[in-house]
Amino acid sequence: MRALDQVFLKKFSILIAFLIAVGLGLALFAHNLNGQKGYPTDPGIARSTAERIAPAGAVYAGATGAAQQAAAAAAAQAAASANVPFGGSTDGAMIFNDGPCTACHTGGVGGAPRLDAAGIGARAAAQGLDELVKKAIAGFTGSTGTMPARGGNAALTDAQMKAAVEYMVAQSKK
Ligand code: HEC
Repeated sequence: MRALDQVFLKKFSILIAFLIAVGLGLALFAHNLNGQKGYPTDPGIARSTAERIAPAGAVYAGATGAAQQAAAAAAAQAAASANVPFGGSTDGAMIFNDGPCTACHTGGVGGAPRLDAAGIGARAAAQGLDELVKKAIAGFTGSTGTMPARGGNAALTDAQMKAAVEYMVAQSKK
């Protein structure tokens, strides 16, 4: 080996050793940094991640599945009935007295039949309950005045209208 080669080899191995040292140093530094850096624990981030990776459809199976399904159905029901007056209740007395009906029917406004035998009682006897319900839902103009469809509250359901009319007829028999 020539003397120059030996000088080169020496310098080159020093360089390699230096680079290995730098590489190790960087690896240790990165390892250290990684240990210090906290991963995101923000519940908002966790929630949005969960939402993003949630399956598009859910399969409910077994006993746990049945419970989940019931909970989902209850939630859907609650969401739907939130838009229906009285939370979807079919308590006729409540719908009549807290709803629009009482405004006209208690005082007989515009010829609205009152809750007595001569009022709604006579109409029930003449037409039958189903017919009264049908007309109260659709609304109509009779000989004495105008009954607005669903008493003016279009959000009342058919079942709620039926309950209110049943309450009116029952009151007229007292
Ligand atoms: C704006 C006043 C008004 C409101 C509010 C109102 N009604 Fe009437 N309703 C009338 C009038 C007036 C009549 C009678 C119309 C006629 O026969 O000429 C009537 C008639 C009726 C009848 C008799 C139907 C028939 O065939 O003879 C029923 C049942 C009835 N209303 C139920 C209800 C119910 C239930 C509500 C509440 C959800 C309600 N009404 C709210 C004015 C009203």
